[in-house]
Amino acid sequence: MEKLVITGKTPLNGEVVISGAKNAAVAILPATLLINGCCTIENLPNISDVKLYCEILEKLGAKIEWLSPHEIKIDNRNITSHIAPLDTTRKFRASYYLIGALLGRCKEAEVGIPGGCNLGNRPIDQHIKGFEALGANVEVSQGNIKAKAKKLTGTSIYMDVVSVGATMNIMLASVLAEGTTIIDNPAKEPHVVDLANFLNTMGADIRGAGTDIIKINGVKELKGNATYSIVPDQIEAGTFMLAAIASKGDITIKNCITKHLESIIAKIEEIGGNVDANGDHLRVWYSKRPTKANIKTLPYPGFPTDLQPQMGVVLAGASGTSIINESIWESRFQYTDELRKMGANITVQGKTAIFEGIESLSGAPVNATDLRAGAALILAGISAKGITEIYNLNHIDRGYENIEEKFRKLGAKIERISE
Ligand code: EPZ
Repeated sequence: MEKLVITGKTPLNGEVVISGAKNAAVAILPATLLINGCCTIENLPNISDVKLYCEILEKLGAKIEWLSPHEIKIDNRNITSHIAPLDTTRKFRASYYLIGALLGRCKEAEVGIPGGCNLGNRPIDQHIKGFEALGANVEVSQGNIKAKAKKLTGTSIYMDVVSVGATMNIMLASVLAEGTTIIDNPAKEPHVVDLANFLNTMGADIRGAGTDIIKINGVKELKGNATYSIVPDQIEAGTFMLAAIASKGDITIKNCITKHLESIIAKIEEIGGNVDANGDHLRVWYSKRPTKANIKTLPYPGFPTDLQPQMGVVLAGASGTSIINESIWESRFQYTDELRKMGANITVQGKTAIFEGIESLSGAPVNATDLRAGAALILAGISAKGITEIYNLNHIDRGYENIEEKFRKLGAKIERISE
């Protein structure tokens, strides 16, 4: 078993380059199944979810050539199966995109139910609602989701809940449908827009991604024969922005899209942090102890739930009493149990957490309970007095490329130790 060992109170200083977005890559990879041809994908993050997806696609008949750790050429002319078994799909959440992609390509999909971070109840009723509206018959039995359609016909679908996964899954299933599909009340995250941009590059006709209405005009086929570069990871960029404040440092974040970071910039400036944003890079630096803040996580462009734990580390050391309201997930405060082991004063009541700021956290052995909680614990270890050991690194490795290397280059005393 591996652990990260961090020696704290180390201000982080220097430059970090952001990788391609995990949540875009894990939608764009299955989207290649819709292409009866080849395409090249650049700026893939070198993370375990991407490697796992490539293994799944090869089992379905895809031919993948790795041009570099961040670039693949993929040929999906010969897809031989519409079945993705539970033993692989349960390893992560984004396997659910195989349903929409295989349904769109083969008019049939049999996909094991997805796994993913334990954030409480994670239903897929909106995904199923979309598939059925397009004309598919969907049944969930023995841990598998089976979807089948004689024909997929465009229609209007109102999303009862703003859902990233359901928005992208319906997009995948409707790109090759007959007629026009309207998705009303869709998610607008940068990775939703990136999937639409990828599909359009390959020959689809999708308009309005990132707005309140997405319109998909079905096309006969996606020709592919193009190259697409994955969007920079908004959440990784935000993680390093908050690391600059938590560690009392000064970090320049390169290869990001500052437009995607407006809510984080606003909250960092509100608590007394400094941000200088310039298009594809920004600088974040600490000048005084953060003041208290109230955070409510919301769908984009609101404050992202995937940065809530990292913001929690900053507020644990801020002056005064802060409140975080987690409106997306039922159970995304498990990391506060770990921060309490480091001396934090946090009270959780349902979907609200109350932070009484303390001068400094103290190092302790802690467990990563999910991907973003793991990242938050790294920020906590770097800003705490003494030694912190972080276990369950598999969560972190799913979504962050060379995480300890990137922090070490910024001055962190961090080592990955095999026990
Ligand atoms: C995606 O999860 C991300 N994962 C999550 O990031 C992220 O937290 C989440 O979007 C919100 O931004 C990937 O993209 C792989 P949702 P997803 O469908 O698609 C409810 C990370 O750390 N809902 O937008 O599963 C749901 O319960 C991960 O990178 C339904 O009710 O999230 C939740 O309350 C963690 N019915 C809300 O919608 C449905 O059919 C948002 O969920 C679907 C969702």
